[in-house]
Amino acid sequence: MTRKPVLSVEQIDKQFVLHTQNGAILDVLRGTSLAVSAVEIAALCGPSGAGKSSLLKAVYGTYRVNGGRILVRHGDDTIDVATAAPRTISALRRNTIGYVSQFLRVIPRVPALDIVADPAIEQGVTPDDARARAADLLRRLRIPDSLFKLSPSTFSGGEQQRVNIARAMAAPRPLMLFDEPTASLDPENRATVLQMIAGLRDSGTAVLGIFHDPADRKTLGARDIDMTTCGREETVHA
Ligand SMILES: Nc1ncnc2c1ncn2[C@@H]1O[C@H](COP(=O)(O)OP(=O)(O)O)[C@@H](O)[C@H]1O
Ligand SMILES: [Mg+2]
Repeated sequence: MTRKPVLSVEQIDKQFVLHTQNGAILDVLRGTSLAVSAVEIAALCGPSGAGKSSLLKAVYGTYRVNGGRILVRHGDDTIDVATAAPRTISALRRNTIGYVSQFLRVIPRVPALDIVADPAIEQGVTPDDARARAADLLRRLRIPDSLFKLSPSTFSGGEQQRVNIARAMAAPRPLMLFDEPTASLDPENRATVLQMIAGLRDSGTAVLGIFHDPADRKTLGARDIDMTTCGREETVHA
């Protein structure tokens, strides 16, 4: 059976202009193409600096690309993230694309439970149901109940990462992006997170992630996408 991809990245280019360094230009992505379908986990691999995180940010609409198309199936439509208006990007993020960044962006004074529940509430889940779902996920990720009412600003790196993962899991979307979700986790939590990601896949989600440990990719049955052959230009030219 052939499935129409949920995500098709076509020939994208991304350059950074380093204004603080005499306008030097860094070619991070050049002609990068890939596709991810429902019920699939694809893993970006390649050395540090290969452009893996930049690619996820481009798909999420955080970084604007300089060329190419980023086609995402959004309900019955196909949206090109590369050219989408900010309002469309917001709608995509609410209902179609979830993203777990490498680090939680802590909002001061907002309790962990609300941070996890909020995206689900934005999707239309009732606040009570969203908080119940959030509590369940936090418990599965071994966050003690005593921390639910606290802002994660004082949490450990691993605790913040688990809050970040719970937040995405509480509002699953058809395309989920993960940037090194297991990097700061102990073995038990790592196993739980991998189970959750596999569960997303099994329920029909298209997953695109970065997992630096090959054992994680193996556990997930991920299809590797090698970024070093995706056209990374090593030279920095002025
Ligand atoms: N916002 C930015 N401004 C300038 N350079 C950036 C920015 N984000 C990433 N880069 C550069 O792009 C390259 C790729 O970074 P990144 O996508 O984080 O790689 P990876 O995730 O594969 O380690 C690196 O050289 C990095 O310094
Ligand atoms: Mg990275």
